[in-house]
Amino acid sequence: MKRNGVCLLTAGLAISALLVGLGGCSKNTGNMDQKKEIRIGVFLYKGDDAFISMLQESIQEEARKYEQETGVEVTLNILDAKGSQNTQCSQVERQLALGCDALCVNIVDRFAASVVIDKAMAANTPVIFFNRDAVEEDLKRWEKLYYVGVDAKETAVLQGQILVDAYQKNPFSLDRNEDGRVSYVLLEGETSHQDSLIRTEWSIQTVKDGGVPLQKLTGGIANWERSQASALMEQWIETYGEQIEVVICNNDEMALGALDAIERAGILDGAVKLVGIDGTPGGVEALKNGKLLGTVEADRRKYASAIFEIASALSGSGEKEKLPESPYCWCPQRVLVHE
Ligand code: GAL
Repeated sequence: MKRNGVCLLTAGLAISALLVGLGGCSKNTGNMDQKKEIRIGVFLYKGDDAFISMLQESIQEEARKYEQETGVEVTLNILDAKGSQNTQCSQVERQLALGCDALCVNIVDRFAASVVIDKAMAANTPVIFFNRDAVEEDLKRWEKLYYVGVDAKETAVLQGQILVDAYQKNPFSLDRNEDGRVSYVLLEGETSHQDSLIRTEWSIQTVKDGGVPLQKLTGGIANWERSQASALMEQWIETYGEQIEVVICNNDEMALGALDAIERAGILDGAVKLVGIDGTPGGVEALKNGKLLGTVEADRRKYASAIFEIASALSGSGEKEKLPESPYCWCPQRVLVHE
């Protein structure tokens, strides 16, 4: 199995190649060694994170579907680390001791992946990391390590393009005080998360490259959380008032937090333009109501099915030779805009 190449097909193609490959094998009944029962541990960095809890539901749906289609009994043990890497390491140890066939890990601290990998390798149990990218060096350590996620640069470029398109259609929709500049504030996710860093850099770059005269007023870290974003936005409204024309958010939850502050301050709906990422139900609702200009939605069904299908194939209930060649699997995503 080739392990060094990074699969950089377009996101849609990469995942469909993976799914086509795995989809056929998971229904195979000719494999005499196929297990009839598998146990998979799913480890969440924080169960109350809006995007992660949606992904978790989709993984459960995939498992149910797989049971119905194959007759293989699936036990999914879902564990919430509540933001603590120590807790997550203990949860991994416990599941390995109970005899897990595969671990799906949404790691708390990306730089601690090697600890989880050591434990998994000692127990010869494969690991599928997802959403929080393990360091590349770690993923190369063993052929039973995978990562499923969305390409952060692609997300960012799609988000930036929403603002470029709006500006091209009508510059004053973003430059509401008509001073020739689009003044923005920025809400960022966790500092150590690959998505925050890359989303911020490439979203801003795309908007600038698209000819929008951007001017940054301020920015801050709200750790993906609605309440933290709302508190920051409240301060910024006090300081910058009507100068704020655009709010660029690393995810929808923070955009909703900013909206909470905007509504508390009595600013007219739609006057400040907000962009988010994730396509959460709250984000999509705000989009429909014209409170959010746009968001970038990951295809959660394909995301969850990639995680589950790799896990089930590696658990011994599918054909291993149909596993993807690269340890990286990127899921497709699309733009949603308020028209
Ligand atoms: C990001 C997502 C955020 C948050 C984070 C957690 O990809 O956009 O909303 O869920 O993952 O790792």
